[in-house]
Amino acid sequence: MNILILGSGGREHTFAWKLHQSPKLGKLFVLPGNAGTAEIAENIPVDVNDFDVIKEVALSKDINMVIVGPEDPLVNGVHDFFLNDPEISHIPVIGPQKAAAALEGSKKFAKEFMMRHEIPTAAYQSFTKEKLEEGFSFLETLTPPYVLKADGLAAGKGVLILNDLKEAKEELKAMLVNSKFGNASATVVIEEFLSGIELSVFVLTDGENYKVLPTAKDYKRIGENDAGLNTGGMGAISPVPFADKEFLSKIHQRIVKPTIEGLKKDNLPYKGFIFIGLIKVDDDPIVIEYNVRMGDPETEVVVPRIQNDLVDVFEAVGNGTLDTIDLKLDERTAATVMTVSGGYPEAYEKGKEIMLNKEETDSLFFHAGTILKEGYVLTNGGRVMAVTSFGNDFKEALQKSYQNMEKLHFDGMYYRKDIGFDL
Ligand code: AMP
Ligand code: GLY
Repeated sequence: MNILILGSGGREHTFAWKLHQSPKLGKLFVLPGNAGTAEIAENIPVDVNDFDVIKEVALSKDINMVIVGPEDPLVNGVHDFFLNDPEISHIPVIGPQKAAAALEGSKKFAKEFMMRHEIPTAAYQSFTKEKLEEGFSFLETLTPPYVLKADGLAAGKGVLILNDLKEAKEELKAMLVNSKFGNASATVVIEEFLSGIELSVFVLTDGENYKVLPTAKDYKRIGENDAGLNTGGMGAISPVPFADKEFLSKIHQRIVKPTIEGLKKDNLPYKGFIFIGLIKVDDDPIVIEYNVRMGDPETEVVVPRIQNDLVDVFEAVGNGTLDTIDLKLDERTAATVMTVSGGYPEAYEKGKEIMLNKEETDSLFFHAGTILKEGYVLTNGGRVMAVTSFGNDFKEALQKSYQNMEKLHFDGMYYRKDIGFDL
């Protein structure tokens, strides 16, 4: 089985690391990949949205399965592109088709889906620039803080949370009228603010059957105590200690089941991961967002806990036989800490040499923004490398990651020393 993974982050390195352990794996390709995937697979330096070239790669490398890491190609319809071309339509693609990928590609679509299927989520209304005055009036009916969300993909930056009504109105205008997030903010969802602790649950489905994967919690802010700017994610823990049996059962009954049934009722074919961002309000789970892919760095703690052969699992997704898979999970806790370039998430330099001594370590080092150049491993992005460890609880797991951090160095390296502080 020759497999092609699309993407270049810690998520894709983790998929590659896990697939590489399968006796069923033939050749593994990652497009475009990073220095970590280069150690165990062949990298192909092509953009994940260049579907014509991806087709050529699929044919010339005799690919039997495609696994899509990031949301962009899914929202742009890479799965449909394969299905609609007789030369490559036989190749299973893990990741939903365009219609269902709108669960992440359009906040308005996701909200309407949740309303239609009675899935608990924050009250909301959506507005376009013709309805600016109505948007102002709606803001006046809410109590602060105000939550404004660009409808479309905005590289994780499209959500604003504002304390001041005047500022909220200005930002609404900037989004709708002045295209603050380009076309992504041509529609804006204004939502009731929910107060609680966040967590995520991951589901893998073949469209008919599904498996609930472990919960995880990530840490999005750059600074300790969740201060400062938002990032892609600075660390993660799985499972989430406060998600006990009763709470998990509520998530399953009120959210996971109606989501899968809703996809079927709405005729939205879905083979892939569903990432459900939740907030725990009192003792109830409420949906904040859907993503149509795995999280990063959540993958770096969820996938290492899966004990099955991942090729078997993905084959079952492709074949629609996920019900035949008996999912086995490592009961221990996994924690990951992300190292980032100095300055990130604002301006930062690339091209710093990375020194990593992996001997005698009981941690896993997953590459994110790294590149192999003339034999050297260099930084090539904001988030550089995730250090994952196992422990009997999250404290023990984290302690190992922090200890093994000594084995890694690059100029300007920064990481949060307080992952799990709120648990
Ligand atoms: P999203 O891109 O929808 O995940 O939103 C980004 C972040 O904004 C979330 O992780 C939450 O921390 C926060 N957020 C989004 N919606 C709400 C809400 N209705 N109430 C409180 N916080 C929210
Ligand atoms: N870590 C959050 C995300 O992948 O969207």
